Amino acid sequence: MNTLQLIYEGKSKRVYAIDEGRLVMEFKDDVTAADGLVKAVAMGKGILAARVSSYLFDILEKSGVRTHFIDYDGKRRMFVKRLEIIPLEVIVRNYAYGSLLRRMPLYKPLQKLDPPLLEFHYKDDDLHDPLILEEDIIRVGIIDNSTLNCIKEVSFNVNKILTSFFESKGLRFVDIKLEFGIDRHGEVVLADEISGDTFRVLDERGEHLDKEVFRRTRDVGSLLKAYLRLAERIGIGIEDVYTPS
Ligand SMILES: Nc1ncnc2c1ncn2[C@@H]1O[C@H](COP(=O)(O)OP(=O)(O)OP(=O)(O)O)[C@@H](O)[C@H]1O
Ligand SMILES: [Mg+2]
Repeated sequence: MNTLQLIYEGKSKRVYAIDEGRLVMEFKDDVTAADGLVKAVAMGKGILAARVSSYLFDILEKSGVRTHFIDYDGKRRMFVKRLEIIPLEVIVRNYAYGSLLRRMPLYKPLQKLDPPLLEFHYKDDDLHDPLILEEDIIRVGIIDNSTLNCIKEVSFNVNKILTSFFESKGLRFVDIKLEFGIDRHGEVVLADEISGDTFRVLDERGEHLDKEVFRRTRDVGSLLKAYLRLAERIGIGIEDVYTPS
């Protein structure tokens, strides 16, 4: 692994190149909130996020979604197809929550959004990932109309698959942030990660099994407990993960 070339280190992952077409994404134990201003280390979080991500990418692949997922090392590394990332964060919302309530206070917290609400943000940390209209996306030339339509279709489909998956586990799927890239054949492919860092899921008591716990408490122990409960609820192994007392 030492021979691999580190090509990017982000807030939650290190990205290494295996060759021209493949990458390793190594999930760190770092956790951030408040636009990256709050930082902490949650031992075991990297494994949990990698495991949940790999598990859900596998489900999506088997359901016919084109994803970057290739393989998982069982720990904190996920092997993926190298893509040209489209600088958009696609948020699919099933219930009003988080930044939507701040942007549009007319929504009631957890108000059902049916059909789901799709929101695009321009992916640029310096600009704080601003909201971007579909019109803007086309006019400034980020992607063309047919790519945008494809992303919308795949996003709704991913949301549908994950909603019924979580429902089958007795959990409520609130929202998710998706990223897409273009592969060497010019196809749109689902990228990045799918974990408690990028979606919100509630149990039957309305408790968060996602990063919202850290956003609220800033407490890594509580975050880990939520991630462990998420893993248990969806039936993935946690024996090798450090468990907070
Ligand atoms: N298949 C892929 N090919 C190339 N890059 C990818 C792929 N999947 C995800 N990425 C990119 O790898 C990086 C993962 O690192 P991380 O999520 O930690 O970044 P980050 O701190 O969130 O910053 P940002 O996402 O704003 O770049 C992201 O930039 C993500 O867009
Ligand atoms: Mg990221």
